[in-house]
Amino acid sequence: MTPELPDDLLTPEALRDPDSAAAVLREHDPVHWSPTHRAWLLTRYDDVVAAFRNPALSSDRVRPLMSARAEQPERAASQDASQRMLALISEWMVVTDPPAHTRLRRHSGAAFKQQRIAAMEERIQTLVDGLVDDFGDGGPRGDLIAGVAYPLPAIVIAEMLGAPPADRDRFREWSDELALVAFGAGGDARAERHERALRGLEEMAGYFRDLIARRRHDPGGDMLSAMMAGDPTGGQTELSDDELVGMCALLLFAGHETTTNAVANAIRLLTADPALRDRVRDDPALVPPAVEEALRLEGPIKVLVRWVVEDHELRGRTIRAGERVYLLLPGANRDPERFEDPDDVVLTRSRPNHVAFGRGIHACIGAQLARIETRIAVGTLLRRLPGLRVDGDPPRLPVLASRAQESLPVVHDGARAASTP
Ligand code: HEM
Repeated sequence: MTPELPDDLLTPEALRDPDSAAAVLREHDPVHWSPTHRAWLLTRYDDVVAAFRNPALSSDRVRPLMSARAEQPERAASQDASQRMLALISEWMVVTDPPAHTRLRRHSGAAFKQQRIAAMEERIQTLVDGLVDDFGDGGPRGDLIAGVAYPLPAIVIAEMLGAPPADRDRFREWSDELALVAFGAGGDARAERHERALRGLEEMAGYFRDLIARRRHDPGGDMLSAMMAGDPTGGQTELSDDELVGMCALLLFAGHETTTNAVANAIRLLTADPALRDRVRDDPALVPPAVEEALRLEGPIKVLVRWVVEDHELRGRTIRAGERVYLLLPGANRDPERFEDPDDVVLTRSRPNHVAFGRGIHACIGAQLARIETRIAVGTLLRRLPGLRVDGDPPRLPVLASRAQESLPVVHDGARAASTP
C-alpha cells in the first residue's frame, strides 16, 4: 500500500527528518508533483545526476523571480530593496546558464587552482588550532558553531581574497546579511530586513571595489588577483569590477554557511556513536572517509532548484517549460540503488559518489577547499576535545535549502593542547 506522500518539505517532521521524507518519495513517487511547493520533487540518484546535466533545466532562477515581482505593482514599492538585492544576485555565476556561466567559471577556475588550495592546509590547521584553543578555554561546554564552525570559513575566504586580517569580522557580518537576503528571497521577507541587508551589502560592495582597485594597481598571489588576470584559456575577456564584486560576494555566501554546516553536521553524526567517534579520533586516515560519509548522509544542502525551459518526459511524467524542479540531495545520497547500506556510515566505500557538491557545469568550485577545512576542523575537534558529544538534540532551522542549525551546544571532558599527539 502506498503511504501518504510527504508533499510539504517544511513540516516539523520533514524538517527534523528530511531523509525519511525523501525516502518515501523515492520509493513511491520518484517524480512527484508537489502542489505545496508548486514544483517537481526528484529523489532518485540517477534522476538527480541526470538533472544536473539536463539543458532543459536552467539555473537562471533569480531573474524569473524578479519579473514575477515586477508584475505585482502592489508589492513593488515595499519590495524595492529586495528587487535591488535580487538584481545584484541575479548576476552570480551559480544562477546563470551558458554562455555567461562559461565565461565566469573560466575566470574563477583560475583562482581555485589545486596548488593554491593545497597550500592553504597548514594555515587552516593554525587557524583551527587557534579557534579550538579559545573554545577549550571556555570550559567543558560551549556552542561549537559560534566558537569554531562559523568563524573558520569566513576567515579563510577573507584571507584567500587577500583582505587584511583586521577586516575579518566585517566578512562575518556581510555573510549574515547575504544569508538574510537569500533566505528571504523566495518567501515573505519583510521590507526592513531587506533594507538593512541592502545597506550592509552596499558597504560590502564598496569594500570589495577598494580592494579590487588596490589589486589592479598591485597584484598579489591571492584569489582576487588571479580572477582579475585575463582569460586563462587565452580569450580576450577580463572580468569587470562589477563582476569581480559579484564573485567575491558569491564566494563568501556559497562558501561560508555551507562549510559551517558541513563541520557541524559531521560532528553531530560522528559523535552520536561514541565507538565510531573514538575510532575516527584514533586513526587520522579515517577522517577523510568519515567526512565524505557525513557529506553524503547529512549534507549541508538539501534542495537545489532548477527552472524548466523545455518540455520533457521523465518516468512517464511530462515536465513543462515554466515549471520548477527541486533536486532533493538527501534522496539521491541515500538511494539504495546506488549505495549499499545507504543509511549507515561506511568508512570503506571505494569512491565518494555522493552529490553533496552537485554535478555538471555548476559543480561546487570550492569542494577541495571545503573538504580541507572540514577534515581539519573535524579531525582536530575529535582529537583535542576528548569525549566530545552534542548536548541534547538541537533543532534544525526551518529552511528548505539547507540542513542547518543555529547553534550546536556540545560537552567534552577537557581540552588538550594543540601539540598533544
Ligand atoms: C561543504 C561545503 C560546501 C558544499 C556542501 C557546497 C555545495 C555546493 C553545491 C551543491 C553547488 C552546486 C549548486 C548548483 O548546482 O546549483 C555549489 C556551487 C558552488 N560553490 Fe559550493 N559548497 C561548499 C563549499 C564551498 C566553498 C568553500 C566555496 C568557495 C569558497 C564554494 C563556492 C561555490 C560556488 C562559487 C559555486 C557555484 C559554481 C558554479 O555555478 O559554477 N562552495 N556548492
